[in-house]
Amino acid sequence: MYQLIDGKELSKRIKEELKIEADKLKEKGIIPKLAVILVGDDSASKVYVRNKSKACNEVGVEFEEILLNSNTSMEKLLSIIDELNNRKDINGILLQSPIPKGLNIQEAFERIKWEKDVDGFNPINVGRLMIGQDTFISCTPYGIIKMLEACDIEIQGKNAVIIGRSNIVGKPLMQCLLNKNATVTICHSKTKNIKEITRTADILISAVGKINIVTADMVKDGAVVIDVGMNKNDKGKLVGDVDFEKVKEKASYITPVPGGVGPMTIAMLMNNVIKATKLQNNIIN
Ligand code: GUN
Repeated sequence: MYQLIDGKELSKRIKEELKIEADKLKEKGIIPKLAVILVGDDSASKVYVRNKSKACNEVGVEFEEILLNSNTSMEKLLSIIDELNNRKDINGILLQSPIPKGLNIQEAFERIKWEKDVDGFNPINVGRLMIGQDTFISCTPYGIIKMLEACDIEIQGKNAVIIGRSNIVGKPLMQCLLNKNATVTICHSKTKNIKEITRTADILISAVGKINIVTADMVKDGAVVIDVGMNKNDKGKLVGDVDFEKVKEKASYITPVPGGVGPMTIAMLMNNVIKATKLQNNIIN
């Protein structure tokens, strides 16, 4: 019998706790503020940004959206980041990915000051995560770790298999799990015999972005299955990477889509904005 990991409920609890933190900051005259840059008109990105704005509202974080058209030059984008880096009232900066082709997202992420890099994509934060230092951890991997911990799922000594090697999810998640003493394997498009590897997983995470890429025969009995996929099916419904109906029968724990990893990502973004605000105001704890 599987247990559903309710990311929506857990994220609600985390946001309530963060609201208390935000209220304490306000008593000191400090108002946490997040700036989100959206370049172009990717429809999924617009939905994500709207959800981030809603979460800010719930937690008591001010929100500023900077909308740039798809013809924006790299110089202009970098100058906007510089401006936000220098503004005292802005604590967190997030450049929504993807950005139009022709713009260099890595250069842009690198330009965001590490102290305001609430996505954890600046190479300084990536490097700090790698050597196990306190840092801004990117929100999806961080949310996944929080989910596992909230369910008392042991990570230490477990075989964790991640499908997908993106800079946003796969690679930082590998590091987070390694930092918690898991034995981690990453599978990707060139991996041979994926099924043989995924069947060794005590914790299996799919971050590919393809419907039904994880089928029941790939899953060990009793595995914990985390689905990071956000795909639209032919009926326009949001679904994950995992063949949920069949895989749930083998899993001990499984995340739904929607209502699993997605809300946790946003809750961890709020966590990082509060952390950044404290850091910039020399508030410890
Ligand atoms: N696009 C999809 N997920 C993310 C994320 O976590 N951060 C940013 N900046 N863009 C994204």
